Amino acid sequence: MTGGSEWQGRVGRAWADEWRRTDRSFAALNPHLLGAIAAQPGTRLVDIGCGAGTLSIALAQARPDAQVTGIDISADLIAMASERVAQLGTPRVRFRHGDAGEWANPQGQDSGGLADLLVSRHGVMFFADPPRAFRHLAAQCAPGARLVFSCFRDRAANGWADLFDAVLPPAPAAAAPEGAFPAGPFAFADPDHARRCLAGWADITFTPVDFRYVAGAGDDPVADAIGFFTRIGPAAARLAALAGNDLHAAPDAMAEVLTPHCHDGVVSLPAAAWVVTAISDHADCANPLV
Ligand SMILES: C[S@@+](CC[C@H](N)C(=O)[O-])C[C@H]1O[C@@H](n2cnc3c(N)ncnc32)[C@H](O)[C@@H]1O
Repeated sequence: MTGGSEWQGRVGRAWADEWRRTDRSFAALNPHLLGAIAAQPGTRLVDIGCGAGTLSIALAQARPDAQVTGIDISADLIAMASERVAQLGTPRVRFRHGDAGEWANPQGQDSGGLADLLVSRHGVMFFADPPRAFRHLAAQCAPGARLVFSCFRDRAANGWADLFDAVLPPAPAAAAPEGAFPAGPFAFADPDHARRCLAGWADITFTPVDFRYVAGAGDDPVADAIGFFTRIGPAAARLAALAGNDLHAAPDAMAEVLTPHCHDGVVSLPAAAWVVTAISDHADCANPLV
């Protein structure tokens, strides 16, 4: 379970430091997500859980008539996204730090006009109360606004997720409060559950995308992948709980697991995602177009 508090702390810091390698891991998914977004109308875009800003930047570059607002709960990631935009000089992108499920956009003041296209690359599976968050987001948008996001499918179809089960002991799991919504990378894997979470949205579609999740490349792809998994993903939490000899032995054990997945100078694992689309059916929009 990865919730907002973890993203605000250790996990968000690691993603800010590692944005180049996390971007690389999602690179083969991008054309599918960008293609689905390109098929939708909209000029006031909001990127939910924008992280280090890659999707926001790509969309501002692809849509010359669009204003893009990226929102993220991690201050470290918003700082990194802002730094990247300043360096690139990308126009029409702004970033906001906060919980997207609480985002206030009275009369469209925070999105340069009423938001009409919400997007996300894997940033929507961490809300404490998803139906409340999605209903609230719909209320911040223009009537008929579109939603396009990606999220992981079944854990079993994502070979990177349980890669180190046999060699690293499980991290101690924090007990979730009874009745809590599951939050984390696989929280929207089940379309029926995801549909129940998407309150305020209709015409929901799920398109499966299989892609290669690149974990290591360069001069020593296996060492690169060990460095990546030491910071990002389920192995990072397992390693953080290790000490002494177990911690010392971990890189060799990880290398043994990763080496069979290294081909043509790249360590890659199977990954499976949904690209989800929906249209706001929020009848009682808090921001009526006037
Ligand atoms: C898997 S990362 C994806 C980041 C980014 N979209 C990308 O593709 O690189 C999930 C992101 O969602 C953000 N996040 C989690 N809960 C959030 C919330 N309630 N509101 C806004 N952002 C949130 C995290 O801080 C993190 O940046």
